[in-house]
Amino acid sequence: MGDDLSKAVAILRAGGLVAFPTETVYGLGADATNAAAVARIFAAKGRPATNPLIVHVADAVVARRYAADWPRMASRLAEHFWPGPLTLVVRRAPCIVAAAAAGLDTVGLRCPDHPLALQLLRKFDGPVAAPSANRSMRISPTTAEHVRHELGDRVDLILDGGACQVGIESTVLDLLADPPRILRPGGVSAAQLEPVIGAVQLGEHLTATDQAASSPGQQAVHYAPHTPTLRFEAGQWERVRAQLGSDDVLLLMEPAPQVPRVRQVICLPEDPQAYARRFYASLRQADSLGAGRIWVQMPPDLPTWAAVRDRLKRAAQSL
Ligand code: TXA
Ligand code: MG
Repeated sequence: MGDDLSKAVAILRAGGLVAFPTETVYGLGADATNAAAVARIFAAKGRPATNPLIVHVADAVVARRYAADWPRMASRLAEHFWPGPLTLVVRRAPCIVAAAAAGLDTVGLRCPDHPLALQLLRKFDGPVAAPSANRSMRISPTTAEHVRHELGDRVDLILDGGACQVGIESTVLDLLADPPRILRPGGVSAAQLEPVIGAVQLGEHLTATDQAASSPGQQAVHYAPHTPTLRFEAGQWERVRAQLGSDDVLLLMEPAPQVPRVRQVICLPEDPQAYARRFYASLRQADSLGAGRIWVQMPPDLPTWAAVRDRLKRAAQSL
């Protein structure tokens, strides 16, 4: 792995793309101070230029170099939650190329909690712009194999750090809003943030993909399988059961109800953390079966499930 790390650093320095594991999902990384390298990320993913990238750093001391302003709240949050699944949106320092931030004067900074990612960031000794390493709008990768499947030779090197432990993307918190606003629910919940910084607001994203997500017709195309995917609340089970085809796949939560004959049933754990860890891989597995439809049972509408429910609303049409 030492060899791979040196290779990865050399690729980043030369403006190439390196996929690497984090605790949330795999990232597709490039030097955030190199405009050509950042452009390659957008091209490889087919990502709209209007959707800003998260910039990864080795620690809070490094983060301050890439923020034009580092509020006290940022220090406090970094101290509590970094390394970890929390992205802080602050004012952008000029050395981070504008395109990485989709032209905004802000930047989302995050220190990931994965030994391989941290070694890479320390050795590179610079800011690494990295969106999730999937094609735009598709399911996020939680293994190196998923990345290979999504991006093939569009990426110069994939560092394999095993399966991601959190399994769902970071919480994106806008520190320019007062009180701070959660732009994307994720690995750190509002209930975990509030004891540290006081009240937070729950908000909508403002990027292109999120504008798309808030208009119902396009909602189906974010984090989405290729197979038509429908979501339902637990209370709608009888209705779903009546419509199930023998070609359909079901993603249920434990304890699962009695199921008629379908192509396959995938059962996910009742615990939010355990569920999140397996979530994207299960959706990907369901999508690989060439099924007629994928039906996904929504977890309960509770704060502990906010991140999973958010992704499912973007991945699937409601029944
Ligand atoms: O867990 C994660 O956050 C993963 C790993 C690789 O770190 N990354 C990730 O990146 O999910 P991506 O590009 O798939 O999602 C980044 C999200 C987008 O919703 C984007 O709109 C938001 O972060 N974002 C990034 N910079 C922002 C900024 N300056 N202002 C507002 N939102 C921002
Ligand atoms: Mg993504």
